[in-house]
Amino acid sequence: MTQSLPAIESSALETLLSPSMVIFRDRLLANLDSMLVMAGHPNRLRPHCKTHKMEQIIRLWVEQGVTKHKAATIAECEMLAAAGATDVLLAYNPVGPNIGRVVALAAKFPACRFSVTTDHEKPVQLLSAAAAKARVTIGVMLDVNVGMNRTGILPDDPAAVSLYVQVAQLPGLRAAGFHVYDGHQKQTSLHERKTAVAAEWSSVLELRRKCEAAAAPVPALACGGTPTFPCYTELEAPGIEFCPGTSVLHDNGYGTSFPDLPFEPAAAVVTRVVSRPASNRLTLDIGNKAVAADPPKGSRVFFPELPDAVQDSHNEEHMGLITPDADRYQPGDVLLAIPVHICPTSALYNRVAIIDNGQVTEYWDVTSRNRKITI
Ligand SMILES: Cc1ncc(COP(=O)(O)O)c(C=O)c1O
Repeated sequence: MTQSLPAIESSALETLLSPSMVIFRDRLLANLDSMLVMAGHPNRLRPHCKTHKMEQIIRLWVEQGVTKHKAATIAECEMLAAAGATDVLLAYNPVGPNIGRVVALAAKFPACRFSVTTDHEKPVQLLSAAAAKARVTIGVMLDVNVGMNRTGILPDDPAAVSLYVQVAQLPGLRAAGFHVYDGHQKQTSLHERKTAVAAEWSSVLELRRKCEAAAAPVPALACGGTPTFPCYTELEAPGIEFCPGTSVLHDNGYGTSFPDLPFEPAAAVVTRVVSRPASNRLTLDIGNKAVAADPPKGSRVFFPELPDAVQDSHNEEHMGLITPDADRYQPGDVLLAIPVHICPTSALYNRVAIIDNGQVTEYWDVTSRNRKITI
């Protein structure tokens, strides 16, 4: 992965607030292209929007024929449907007020099919009653726990088949397939990642066979994230869909951990030196309100210009660096930082500046960073 970033003209840098976020359009478009090439067909992609959260990016996808998308919040679902997605999956058991909100989404956007995931009968029964009452149909994917142990039902648990059969029979619901997310597969070696995915895959196929034998169709299998994207593309299974999200903007963390992936960081945080409190120290205006406190302190961003700088402190508004190059900088000087984990950082910004050939050409709203849009 490239650890460098495209240049921004100094006239453009002068106009950029710090802290702020920029997206390099060419990098973004190249990542979308690489994702499409890997998927083989737009129909096989269901990108997760939890990181990009922007209508303009969804429109770029829709122009390429990618109309199926995945979301983690109701606001993301609404942003997706408003931007032209026609098949939106909320990767959660709908609970509490979200049951009514899912039904409200389906009523507001009749041209879009909405689905949720589930691993328990209580939310699906409540969703079925609410959907039937509103005369809408909501798809339900069985959430299969393939080892991450965050959500899902174990594939060899007999309750998995009976739950999915129940989904297929309940009014207001549509049996939409399986959701197979595996964020625990983090092997740097692609070969080891592929072996791990192949090992879990047979139990998914066996569960599919049992469900279909019980007259519950499994039309789709929504699989994986960015690290396992190249693993699932090798598997032959009708209805398979790939769900990477981070790869759209990508980051230094995935770039370092998974060098086989063809993506490059497309987003950066703009920061300025605000102080040089000692001869080997710089203080920047990117505290943890500008760069998420994830991963642990010390490795939250990568500075292509200062690759060896030690991130010594990270407070609300400040990041302290230790570097022998501190004397090259004065207050006001700009640095670009590549987030190590872009997903929680992009959610900290209301809008991002789009960079074309070193210039700011437009700003995009990060619409679904809010928890609620209208529903
Ligand atoms: C359920 C689910 N699907 C897909 C993804 C996308 O994974 P990645 O960030 O590796 O692209 C995530 C990421 O958190 C997720 O939670």
